[in-house]
Amino acid sequence: MGAPRTTKMPAHPPKAGLAAMPALRTRSLVSMADLTPREFELVLTLAQMVKAGPRDYRGALEGKQLVMIFEKPSLRTRVTFEAGMKSLGGDAIFLDQRGSRIAEREEVRDVAHNLERWVDGIVLRTYDHSTITEMARCSRAPVINALSDLEHPCQALADFLTLKEKFADLRAVKLAYIGDGNNMAHSLILAAALAAASITVATPPAYAPSKQVTSAAQAIAATTGAQIHFTTTPETAVADADAVYTDVWTSMGQEDEAEQRRIAFAGFEVTDALMAKAKPHAVFMHCLPAHRGDEVSASVIDSSRSVVFEQAENRLHVQKAVLILLLGESRRRFPARSAEA
Ligand code: CP
Ligand code: NVA
Repeated sequence: MGAPRTTKMPAHPPKAGLAAMPALRTRSLVSMADLTPREFELVLTLAQMVKAGPRDYRGALEGKQLVMIFEKPSLRTRVTFEAGMKSLGGDAIFLDQRGSRIAEREEVRDVAHNLERWVDGIVLRTYDHSTITEMARCSRAPVINALSDLEHPCQALADFLTLKEKFADLRAVKLAYIGDGNNMAHSLILAAALAAASITVATPPAYAPSKQVTSAAQAIAATTGAQIHFTTTPETAVADADAVYTDVWTSMGQEDEAEQRRIAFAGFEVTDALMAKAKPHAVFMHCLPAHRGDEVSASVIDSSRSVVFEQAENRLHVQKAVLILLLGESRRRFPARSAEA
């Protein structure tokens, strides 16, 4: 099977042209797998256009309101969604949900049926992925996954925009992921599948990615030509890699496991010696926050090979593209409600 087809973009997308922007098939972005390969490419292309000419999109979401509910801490995701929404002419309301889980006070479906009457979009950062799927199932307003225990699609979109900027043709990119096979790895594996890229994931045996996610990714890869491999040896993963990516060993909510994880992940630190086994031009990537001396050496993350702040910057641009595509004029406001209880 061939690579994803090139998405035809309108010649003048800003302002009036935004209404002619191809609509995403999905109402919400819960999983990276909600996008088709063409839609994945569309998001990155629009993100590049927004990045190149942010002023052209100032009124794209005029009068629209976004609610952002976070059960976990955030720097990048919160600021980039809020700044992005405001720079598109809309507004964002932040609900700090760190004290208790969303469903503790009220059923998620009731929260959804309230929010859909007030706002145009819902951004959620949760522990349980099912909180986001349930919100998306019940809400007529689009729901965007701002990180769950299972996935972090907005970060992976920013990461692939960064790779596109560095290497142009994603189909030729070999990405090595070293570390925990959890939310970040899951979204990167799915993104690589959509982009027809190559990814090799190295985890300790007990921290391998979810079989459900890897099967979904392999099914996409069968249609795009992506290459997805798994190993327990970091050196195998980085051999020939254009980019080496890692994430924290202890994710938010796993703090009690920190010591046991430090032992399990010994040998998985991205060091200068490991980077030396990748291609000479290989870049270092991390979603941040990072822990120098654990998953990455200071000499790597603070080196000229590190693109971590480009990744962080690109959160803003891809999320503006996602917001335009899900909340903007290419969508009818609240198309037919999806099946609900
Ligand atoms: N990478 C990322 O999602 O950062 P925050 O947790 O600060 O939002
Ligand atoms: N795996 C990390 C990603 C942080 C952006 C976590 O879930 O804490």
